[in-house]
Order: sequence, then C-alpha cells, then structure tokens
Amino acid sequence: MTAQIIDGKAIAQQIKQQVAEQVKQRREEGKPCPGLATVLVGQDPASQVYVRSKHRACQKAGIQSFSHELAADVPQEKLIGLVKELNNNAAVHGILVQLPLPDNLDDEAVLNTVSIYKDVDGFHPLNIGRLAQKGREPLFTPCTPTGIIYLLKQVLPSLEGRQAVVIGRSNIVGMPVALLLVRENATVTICHSRTSDLPSVAKQADILVAAIGRPEMVRAKWVKPGAVVIDVGVNRVEDATRERGYRLVGDVAFEEVKEVASAITPVPGGVGPMTIAMLLRNTLHAAELAEK
Ligand code: GUN
Repeated sequence: MTAQIIDGKAIAQQIKQQVAEQVKQRREEGKPCPGLATVLVGQDPASQVYVRSKHRACQKAGIQSFSHELAADVPQEKLIGLVKELNNNAAVHGILVQLPLPDNLDDEAVLNTVSIYKDVDGFHPLNIGRLAQKGREPLFTPCTPTGIIYLLKQVLPSLEGRQAVVIGRSNIVGMPVALLLVRENATVTICHSRTSDLPSVAKQADILVAAIGRPEMVRAKWVKPGAVVIDVGVNRVEDATRERGYRLVGDVAFEEVKEVASAITPVPGGVGPMTIAMLLRNTLHAAELAEK
C-alpha cells in the first residue's frame, strides 16, 4: 500500500484564501485592517526565512505587518519594552516573537509580557495553561500544532479513541500538539530522548507525529501499517547536487514510510505551510477580539 500524500501546501492555500476573503469583507464593513507585528532577535538564517514568509503571507491576505529586528545581544529589558509598546499599539492585533531566542534572553519572561489578546502564537503561559486544563478555553492555540490537527482531520473524520504517539516534547510543537490531541479525545503518548524502545512505542500509533529535529529518524519498521504519519521536521542535509548546497528532509524516512502508512505529510509542503495559514487565522481572530 502506498500512502495518501497529505498536501499541506494546497490545504494551507485554501485557508489563506478564506482569511483573505474575510479580511476583505471586514474592510468593506469599514473595520480596521488586521495587523501582525513580528519580533526577530539575532541572525538565525532559518528564523529569518520563516519571518520573511510570514510577512509575505500577511501581505497576500491583506493583513498589515510590522517587522521588528533586534540584535542578538539586545538587553532583555529592551525586548520586553518593545513587546509592551506593541501591546499598546492599536494597529497591532497580533504579536509574534520568533523562537528560539538567543540563549542570553529569557523567553518565558518575554512570552509572559505579550498581551493574551494579542498572543497569536498561543505561547502565553495563560493560554497554554488553559489548553492543558479541562473545560478551559485558550484564546489562541499554537500555530503548528493547530495546523497538524487540521491536517489529521482531512484524513481521519474523528480522532476519538485513536492511539496517538508524539515524538518530541518541545514547547512549540510536541507538548501543545499532545494537548490538542487529548482535547480531540485521542489517547496520547509523548516520547522523548529518554524514552526506552522508541520504535516499539511508535509502532503502537494510529497517529504518529514526529517532531524531533533529526533527519529521517523514523523508519518504516517503526510504523504500524495503516498509520497516519505527520512529519514536523525541517532538517537541512548537505546535498552537493543542489545549487544551495543542501536539501530539506523531515524527521521521517519518507520514501520507505509511505509504503507502510495510510497517509503521510511530505517535507517540504506538509506541515510547514499550515503554520503560516494558522497564524493568519489567529491574527484575524485577534482583530475580531479587539472589537469586543
Ligand atoms: N519557531 C518555530 N516555530 C515557531 C512558531 O510557530 N512561532 C514562533 N514564534 N517561533 C517559532
């Protein structure tokens, strides 16, 4: 059996289109243009690429975007001061501080400063805390994890009762996607670097989410036949045949795993585009919240 390839690029395109239409409608009703501010600290090349694509996507959707770039050695107080300024800026509905921050900065303190009403990344401790608690509703949920759930629902009508295994426990993807899966009534196992016999735990999964950051670590023999596999990894591996000297691969050995899984996301073109689509959706939601 060869797996269905989940076309995240096409699915994200539809969402971006919907957001663009809603933004246009808002403008016709005389409502303010949604605005997103990004804060990029330092020169990490991958982060620069991500932030640039976020601005491009905003522009296409009719969302105003404001770019703030700070040197890697910016003092913590200055960064916090900028976030406070953005909290008070009425044209800014969403604030995104690109992670990871350089080691000298305290990301918890920075994320704590973002207004929960502008927390389009869903990383504020209050929003994450609500996500983790029964009967509580976060104002926003993190973009990549929300995009993953959206993709899963394209191939599985209900996630209820499914065995989900998440490999990776990061604050950005692993942990919040596990929390979202629990909210969908899946039975969730979180694996990490200290998990013993990872391949056999992974093999229990009806839904396998790989968010480790290791090129092609998940092999076909780790995957239960018919499982749905979501590959969050974006790893650069050297490739002299490419003009730029590298190619992107996921955390999953795609060519062999696609012969075992029932559905799989490719890299690139799977989860990546969904992150931006969900960011636009969250920014629109933030603009709506500002009117309440
Ligand atoms: N770094 C990697 N993914 C993300 C994301 O979704 N948001 C932010 N702010 N930083 C990231």
